This record gives sequence, C-alpha cells and structure tokens, in this order.
Amino acid sequence: MLDPETFNNILLEQVRDGVYLLTINRPKVLNALNAQTLEEMNNAVSTVTADKGARVLLITGSGEKAFVAGADIAHMSNLSPLEGKAFAEHGMHLFRRLETLGIPVVALVNGYALGGGCELAMSCDFILASDNAKFGQPEVNLGVTPGFGGTQRLTRLVGTSMAMELLVTGRNMSAEEAMQRGLVNHVYPQPQLLEEGLKLASMIAGKSGTAIQLTKELVQRGQDLDLDNACIMESDLFGLSFSTPDRAEGMAAFLESRKPNFG
Ligand code: CAA
Repeated sequence: MLDPETFNNILLEQVRDGVYLLTINRPKVLNALNAQTLEEMNNAVSTVTADKGARVLLITGSGEKAFVAGADIAHMSNLSPLEGKAFAEHGMHLFRRLETLGIPVVALVNGYALGGGCELAMSCDFILASDNAKFGQPEVNLGVTPGFGGTQRLTRLVGTSMAMELLVTGRNMSAEEAMQRGLVNHVYPQPQLLEEGLKLASMIAGKSGTAIQLTKELVQRGQDLDLDNACIMESDLFGLSFSTPDRAEGMAAFLESRKPNFG
C-alpha cells in the first residue's frame, strides 16, 4: 500500500499492526523542514488517515544526532514576507492536523529538536526523548519569531514565564530539564528510544480505537472551553461511546473475565 518512491525526504512504514513510523529523513541537514518535507509529511498523514486499522503514529528523525534541527534556514533565507507567511501557514496546518488526528501521535525525539523541530514535537500528543535530546526555540538568533506555533504551544506546556525565558534567550533545554518542566514524558538511553516507543505503541494499539479517538477529542477541544461546557462535552461523548461495538466488546469481555478484542 505504501509506495516508498513517493517520498524523498521522509520514510513511512507500518512497523507493527496499526503502528506507523514516520521518519524525517534529511540527516545531512539534521532533518531540517523545507516546504517539500512538510508536503510529504502531509501526504503521509493522509495515508495513515485512510487506513482504518491505524492506531498510533510515531514520528522520529533519521540518524542519532537530530530529531529535527528546525525549519530549513537555507530555504527560508530566500523567502519574501508573504512567502514566509505562507511557509508558516503550511507548517501550522500540518501540525494542527497532527494534533487533531483521530489516533495518538507520539514524538520520539532522538537528538536536537530546535525551532520547527521543537514545534513539531509539541504538536504530538506526547514526547519520549533520548538522553541526548535538546529542546529549544532559537529563532531570536536568526532575527525571526517562531512560525510553526512555538510561542503558543510552549507557553501552554511550560507556562508563560518559563516559555518567555526560553523564547527570549533561545537557550537549549536538556532532555532531563524538558522532562522536569512537563514537556517530555520519559527519557531513555538513545539506543532504547525506538524500542520503548514501539512497546508503548503496541500497548495503545490493543485498546479501543474509538474510545481513544473520543478521548483525544475531549482533551483537545476541552482545553478551549470553560469547565462546565467541557464537562457537558464529556457526558455527551461518554454517551456516544455507548453506541459503539467497542463498548459492547469491552464490557462483555470484562463480565466474561476475558481480554477484549477490539479488532
Ligand atoms: N536548516 C538548514 N540546515 C541546517 C539546519 C537548519 N535548521 N540545522 C542544521 N543544518 C545543517 C547545517 O547547515 C550543516 O550543513 P553543512 O554540513 O552543509 O554545513 C549540517 O546541518 C550539520 O549542522 P552543523 O554543522 O551546524 O552541526 P553542529 O553539530 O555543529 O550543530 C546545531 C548542530 C546546534 C543543531 C546547529 O546545526 C544549529 O544551530 N542549527 C540551526 C538550529 C536553528 O536555528 N533552528 C531554528 C530554525 S528557524 C525555525 O525553525 C523557524 C520556525 O519556527 C518555523
């Protein structure tokens, strides 16, 4: 189903049942994101979305040095203001798509996650990092602002004052510091990161896909609502989940003391 010829800058593989691995594959430029890479990632997301058996999308970078060292500076150095805005919108659209995808998206950050790389990781549902990972928004060194959501998502994740410090100094955070600040869920030695990511993905893939989809929607949409309306939405989707085959299977399995098979 996947035609490897379609992509030059990324790899997309179904590594286990329902588990897709998207690798940004430009190691010579530390996996920097240019327009073509964003477009290929967008097409890869469409491929994953079209597979009704897809359960988890893992995203990582090629090589041992970088997840993504940012938007491609060579590409950006020739852009006009309007082209710069269009480039930002391109990345924003893709990252929002990942954030609202009906399956969990997990970043496996295996090295530098700077600028657009940190922004990509932050649009995933959560982040697992290798011990050599570095996170930062160094755009102030280049005379530009972040453009793929960094000012907004970093602030929501680590709070306004810490986000401001990171944004105005452009300093890097180690994986350990990123974990302390709530940006990263777990840190592993570099050689174990993929294996740990696959283990976690297999665990997720065995759960109810519809329950996970509704849960993700509640978490994502609820953040922009007041608590009363967010709780109403939760009651609504809880009720909706009672109409699904997964509810019938999950509850029957519990009552029959067997493992559920969500298909
Ligand atoms: N864009 C284009 N090329 C990049 C790149 C990027 N973001 N990051 C690294 N590269 C290239 C380098 O130019 C170099 O290419 P050559 O071998 O042809 O010279 C190659 O990758 C290896 O990089 P270095 O030699 O610099 O490796 P290093 O180990 O000395 O340093 C680094 C690693 C600290 C990550 C350094 O490469 C660096 O600072 N990169 C830029 C990081 C950055 O500023 N990112 C933000 C970009 S702006 C952005 O992302 C805006 C947005 O929000 C959308």
